[in-house]
Formats: sequence, structure tokens, C-alpha cells
Amino acid sequence: MPIIFHKNTKEFHLYNDEISYIFCILRNGQPGQIYYGRKIKDRESFQHLIEYSLRDMAPCTYEGDRTFSMEYLKQEYPSYGHGDMREPAYEILQEDGSRITEFTFEDYVILKGKRKLEGLPAVYTESDEEAETLEIYLRDRVMNTKIILSYTIFENLPVIIRNTRFAHEGESSIVLERAMSLNLDLPDDRYEMVELTGAWARERYVKTAPLHEGIQAIYSMRGHSSHQFNPFFALKRPETTEDAGEAIGISLVYSGNFLGQTAVDTFGVARAMIGIHPEGFSWTLKKGETFQTPEAVLVYSGEGLGKMSRTFHRLYRKRLARGYWRDRVRPVVINNWEATFMNFTEEKILKFAETARQLGVEMMVLDDGWFGHRDDDTSSLGDWYPDPKKLPQGIRGLAEKIENMGMKFGLWIEPEMVNKDSRLYEEHPDWVIRVPYREACHGRNQFVLDFSKEEVVDYIGDRISRILQDAPVSYIKWDMNRSISEAFSQGRKAEEQGKLFHRHILGVYRLYERLTSEFPEVLFESCASGGARFDPGMLYYAPQCWTSDNTDAVERLRIQYGTSFVYPLSSMGCHVSEAPNQQTFRNTPLSTRAETAYFGCFGYEMDLDTLTEEEKEEVKEQIQYYKRIRKLIMEGTFYRLISPFEGDEAAWIVVSEDKRHALAGYYRMRQPANAPLKRLTLKGLDENLCYKIKETGLEACGDELMRAGMAVSDYASGIREKKERQGDYQSRLFELTAQS
Ligand code: DGJ
Repeated sequence: MPIIFHKNTKEFHLYNDEISYIFCILRNGQPGQIYYGRKIKDRESFQHLIEYSLRDMAPCTYEGDRTFSMEYLKQEYPSYGHGDMREPAYEILQEDGSRITEFTFEDYVILKGKRKLEGLPAVYTESDEEAETLEIYLRDRVMNTKIILSYTIFENLPVIIRNTRFAHEGESSIVLERAMSLNLDLPDDRYEMVELTGAWARERYVKTAPLHEGIQAIYSMRGHSSHQFNPFFALKRPETTEDAGEAIGISLVYSGNFLGQTAVDTFGVARAMIGIHPEGFSWTLKKGETFQTPEAVLVYSGEGLGKMSRTFHRLYRKRLARGYWRDRVRPVVINNWEATFMNFTEEKILKFAETARQLGVEMMVLDDGWFGHRDDDTSSLGDWYPDPKKLPQGIRGLAEKIENMGMKFGLWIEPEMVNKDSRLYEEHPDWVIRVPYREACHGRNQFVLDFSKEEVVDYIGDRISRILQDAPVSYIKWDMNRSISEAFSQGRKAEEQGKLFHRHILGVYRLYERLTSEFPEVLFESCASGGARFDPGMLYYAPQCWTSDNTDAVERLRIQYGTSFVYPLSSMGCHVSEAPNQQTFRNTPLSTRAETAYFGCFGYEMDLDTLTEEEKEEVKEQIQYYKRIRKLIMEGTFYRLISPFEGDEAAWIVVSEDKRHALAGYYRMRQPANAPLKRLTLKGLDENLCYKIKETGLEACGDELMRAGMAVSDYASGIREKKERQGDYQSRLFELTAQS
């Protein structure tokens, strides 16, 4: 039984074979954190780990006792100003203007499995045996409000999932001004914070910095999780590497505004928290109303960042992603965006598809520009009616022709947006998020529809649903190309405005839920100007996401490497595009572009008719190759071998569950002259199995490959011996198959 309550000492111990999470109810009735980390044997009390001591200037709870102060005690869900003067997990404004609260322990319950979160994406269990959930009930007697802290521990994964629910039962209304999903007070600050940061076309670069006294934070206040920061950070020990040492990963299952931060106090306590960003958030609760935070996932690894990532991958691939496509290999697609932009006709698309079909592509995806009179990005968003100039027989006409060719058809949409130049805007200017009597910023000439309003979500849902009912559409690329500015919900009262950001994202989730339920066999890919909404919330609805608009292979190494810190290969949309690349103007070999894109959901984003016959033959072989290895990519275990952030090379390997099959990718950005000798050591293999490497013919055992490695030296030196894969931006694959 992984959750134990020791009645006498009021201690909770959640554990499985790998981790322990221990907290207690302190003398003042509030929950105090004791230990989180590698599993320790249970005992009646760990209270000796709580230090009560006299600290000058500390606000003390009990008269005559200067040793009990919330100022330095480690807590589960702290407040500000009632002893603790640090960053709080929540803040509640009361009718009289006070923000002081006192939530004390009332009760608890232990449940099998895990509850669903109403309207929010969440990790799930498939049987009650997989996990247990502890709910702690705290009450503030003055306001008559309850806080329910929820903790789920998985039986076979080093994972704790937390969320918080506020239930108001008092007569006077209260206003929630901050409501984090998780707070974790750690007993020391000897950590480095690992973040995934970036911008459009360079998402999720790995950045690491030591903690110091004060606050280190990642955040989004843009209405979506953003290119800039991903809703994830890890705390690792300075000595932690990819394969050894402690790392704690914290990830928020949410796609809207978020704050993730670590605040280090001057007693060495590192207070980590994650949740909805308090900026612009205020949520009035009347008697009988509740507020549910998104959930946060806490992963512990004693074996480095690699194990942390593999835990996230297992959990997110199997217990966050859902539906028909969760366990299915994904089709090889061709997308017309980088080839035609909005300048296409049905004839052109059919020709495009036919060439792709001949080379083995399975699905034709029609991107932006098929609706209204959208010839550029100044018009038509919101008018989800096919443009008769481009598609004389509508989506159905085109989709049926594609199907008759033996391919599947996919379609791009951007349902949350509207252009001023559209019928929708003319009819419903008040459906736009903006302050009506002030100028509003546009982003890519477009405006954000107010999805906090049910009628807006229903209208857009009906339109998209009609298209999917009418035509054989097998895939939807759901885009989102601007942030929310001038956050204001027209026509709503002042006290409702602080709910807009969260309600908007709930509206997005509601539409996703509707469409994925109505069309369960349609494959959804989320997208936001590339990867501005590559987050766990989206993964719950769409099992894959367009990783980045940057399709340059060299850049993709960094982007995919960083993305892999949290997200599985099965979630990364990766396409081969033309060279020179449209974002970086870099000329990379076709082979390197494919060998980078293989490690995800594979496809092409180019006009294949511009290729030579020889190149087309190469594409054909690439597609055949991917079809053969895609199950391994989707289901295998991923190990990072060499970081592209540290030098001129990158490498990774994916290994099948039974360890009998593996594929390693080795990439080199710039060709050195007369290069040093090089061995690549692999990971994740069975040390007792012997493998044959297809490309080199080498036979070697797992132990040797993982300890001694294999030679991948470059024997060329200038003009003396030019081999095929030489020069800048080259890659090599190594496919390993166990012998007998
Ligand atoms: C941004 C996406 O990331 C691109 O792939 C493409 O779909 C464009 N939007 C279309 O406007």
C-alpha cells in the first residue's frame, strides 16, 4: 500500500519502490513538508527532521514560544503574512480587505486510482491498481473555505501528481488572487534550475543556472504556454549529469498563463512552485463555488536527467495522451505550407499529392489559406468556408480525390482567431478579446476570439464539426498564431475580468474535447506558430504537436533535444523541408534532414517536384525506412547521448522495450580537418545481448557498446580520401538488432 497515515504522529508517507514523499500536520494544524526523494523505509515518525529553532525577527505563532515560526518551517501549501513572509502558494482577498488565512487540517481520504479533473487535461489511470490518491482537507474557519490538496502516487513510476481545489462555503464572497497547483519546500538550495527557453523558431533550448538566494522564475503571461518558456523546470544537483545524480522535474499540465519558480530563502530552503500565473488572475468565489487548479507532475530521478525524461515520456505517452492514435504509428505526411504558402489551387495540391503518393507518403495535409478569401494573412480567419476559387468542390471535393488516390487527407485550422476582414468579425465584433474603447494590438494581423464565452466556442465548434462531418478528413492541424493582449472580455462585469485568461483556455479545452469526442479517429496535431503551445495540456487532446517552424536539421537537433527533456518522440511533429532552409538559409544534406526528422512523427514540408530523380529515389527510400522503424520510434525508450548545446555534435538512441532493436542517430555540425578519433558510447541496450549493426556490419555485445563504445571516427583528411558522408552537417544512423 503506497500511502500510509500514521495517526499518532499525523504523518503521511506516500511511497513506491523508488520514491518517498513525507509530510505531517504541524502543531498549528497546517501541513508541513518533511521529505521528498529516493525511497526510505517507513517509520512511525520522521518529526526529528523538522527543526524548531529561535530565529530573531521571525513572526512566532504561539505566545511564550519563540521556536515555532512558519517563517522557516517547510510547508506543503504556504500562505503569506501569517508567520511566513516568503512567496505564498495562494492568496485570498476577503471582503474586509484582509488576505490573512489559516487553513488547518480537518480530514483526509485515500482513494484507489485517480480522479478526473472537470474540464481540465489530466494524467489518468486505466485501472485502480496503477495509483493511489490522497486528498487532504484543510479549512479556514473564518472564511469557511476548504482547500483540498490532492496527491497521486503511481505504483510503478517515480511520480507524484498534485492539484489543489478551493471550495467556498462561507456567506461572504472571497477572491482567489493566486492559486498554485503545487508547492514544494526543499531542505537545501544546492540545486541548479534547468529550463527550456526560446523564441519563435528556436524553442526549448536547454538553459541551466545555479539557484541563489532570491527568486528564479519561468512564466507566460501571453495566454498560451509560449515559445519563451515551457511549463517545466527541473532542479538538479550541480554534479547531476545525464545519467547520474538527483533531479526533480516539475511540469504543469496546462496550456495557458503559468508561473514556475524557485525562491531560495536565507535559511537555505528552496521553495519550488508551479501553477497559473497570478498576473491578471482573480477569481471570485461565492458560497457553494469551487476553483480547481490544473495539475502538476513531479518526477524524481536518482539517475540523472535522462531517467527524469524517460519517466515523463512513459507517463505522458501512455497516461496523458489518449484515444485512437495513442498507440498507433502515425502516417507519413506531406504538408504544403513551406511549398506553396497560401498560393495554391486544387490542381496544384492534387499534383503535389500525387508525387508524394508515388514516393510513399500516406497523407496530404492542406495548410493555411483554403477558406474565405485568404490569399495572405490579413483576412478570413473565422470564416471557415472553403474558398471556391481555390477549391471549386470544397473540402469534400479535394478530400475525396485525395482518398481516391489512396491517401488520407488532413486539414489546417486556427479556430481561436479572427481577422477584421471577415464576416465573423463584422457580425460579432464583441467576440474579440479587447478593451472596446482602446486600440488593440494585432498579431500577424489577427485577433483572438473570446473563448471564455460559450456561444463563441459553440459557434466555431459547429463550423469545424460541419466540415469534418461533410468531408473525409483524417487529420487536423490546429494552429494558434498570436498571444493574447488587451485581455478583456467584452460585456462582462469588472469582477469577471480576472477569470478571462483561465476561462479562455478552458474554452479551448472544451472545443478540443468536443471535436476529439465527435471525431475520435481523426488525428489531431496541435501547433502554435511552431511550438508555442508544446505543453502537457495539449498532449491530452492531441497526441502530437508541430515541434517548431524551424525545420533546419541543425536547429532541429537542438529543438528536438530540448523538447525531449519532457516530451516523448511520439509527440514531436518532424518534417523534412527544402534546402537552403527557409528559416536559416542553411544547406544541409537531404539525408541529414531525414535522419533528424525520423526521431518523431515524420513527414515532408516541401515541393517534392523540385527534386531531381535521384533525390526522389532517396525520398522514397527514406519513407520506406521510416515505415520500417516507426514503431520503434513511437514505442521505444529514448536516451540522449551527446548534447548539441555543448559542441559540434549530437547523438541519441531509441531502444525497443525488449532491448532487441535500437536506432542511434549521430550528427556532426561542422566537419573538422584531420579530426580526433571518436568513439560513441550507447545507452539502454541489454548488456548480455549481442547486436549486429546494419550500417557497419559490426557485431558487438551490449556491455561493450555501452562501455567501450564504437568507433565513429572520420577517416577523411581533406582531399586525401573523400567519403560519402563528409563535409558539414552530416549524420549517420546505426540500427542495432540483437543476434539470436
Ligand atoms: C504557423 C505554423 O506553425 C505553420 O506550420 C503554418 O501552419 C502557418 N502557421 C500557417 O499560417
